[in-house]
Amino acid sequence: MRILSGIQPTGSLHIGNYLGAVRQWIELQEKNECFFPIVDLHALTAPQDPKEFKKSILEKTTELLSVGIDPEKCVLFVQSDVSEHTELAWILNTLTPIAELERMTQFKDKSQKQKSNVNAGLLTYPTLMAADILLYQTQAVPVGEDQTQHLELTRKLARKFNLKYGETFVIPKEIVPKEGARIMSLTNPKAKMSKTDDTASSISLFDEPKDIKAKINAAVTDTGSAITYNSARKPGISNLLTIYSEFSGETIAQLEKKFKGKGYAAFKKSLAELLVKKLAPFYEKKKDLEKREVYIEETLKKGAQKAEAIASTTMQDVRSKVGLLSR
Ligand code: AMP
Ligand code: TRP
Repeated sequence: MRILSGIQPTGSLHIGNYLGAVRQWIELQEKNECFFPIVDLHALTAPQDPKEFKKSILEKTTELLSVGIDPEKCVLFVQSDVSEHTELAWILNTLTPIAELERMTQFKDKSQKQKSNVNAGLLTYPTLMAADILLYQTQAVPVGEDQTQHLELTRKLARKFNLKYGETFVIPKEIVPKEGARIMSLTNPKAKMSKTDDTASSISLFDEPKDIKAKINAAVTDTGSAITYNSARKPGISNLLTIYSEFSGETIAQLEKKFKGKGYAAFKKSLAELLVKKLAPFYEKKKDLEKREVYIEETLKKGAQKAEAIASTTMQDVRSKVGLLSR
């Protein structure tokens, strides 16, 4: 299958990204043709310091390689290196009703979060994402739950284009994990864990042991002391149980039994130890890769070349279908 999924360069990879998306990528790259763009243009919809931004793109590449993304098995590249992404996004914009974009939950959330900077890019973010996907004739997109609305819009646009101009795009489906598709913030278990919120709210895959322990210790829990899963009434403990279960392989029911009568403190201590153990190899690998900047840059260059070859073929077809002169 042809697979594509993107990730923004800013903010360190956290356990939500891992359980919701990147863990699936690592499995999928074994038997599929996978494209993983680092979506730098999407990240520009939030304010960025140019120097820091450049660093974050290389940093995200290093992080992805550290957790098991293998450039021999997939195409890892930077979105802005392949100019067809913005070209197709423009054409899709002309097919997208503004009202559809205004309905997007992520647009509404982000407009609330950055009230003084509600730029047009925030609004048209989903059409650029649709372009990322459709350019590669993608069949499946592994993402966390927060992206399913964007996927629906992508399918709508693909169908609309196909209907208007003739069969051009494959209609992509999403792959959303059964568990772990929506990991919540440690400080506010009613909001999703996000790379750009304060650091206490999320656990990076590269956090040091003492930080992991401190963050889990400070994680918001609920009234009562029982370790039981109830996402409506006990969102804090339920979120921690999900994280525990996904990293240990034990079911929630097994964990409830294991921690029966034990209280929050013992549960948190055990969870922190589990995470320290599971995340240690990532930290080690990253330290090693950080010394290999040339390799990282070469990897991205090669990735962009492979991506470009496919993107340009699709774009030629699109140009001809909509009646633009060929280049
Ligand atoms: P982003 O961090 O927004 O670039 O997202 C990268 C990928 O991680 C996307 O597929 C998201 O759906 C997924 N993701 C982000 N936050 C979470 C979360 N809190 N829980 C599960 N998946 C997430
Ligand atoms: N919008 C996604 C996010 O916020 C990132 C993204 C951009 C993406 N392009 C994509 C995900 C294409 C999947 C496929 O996380």
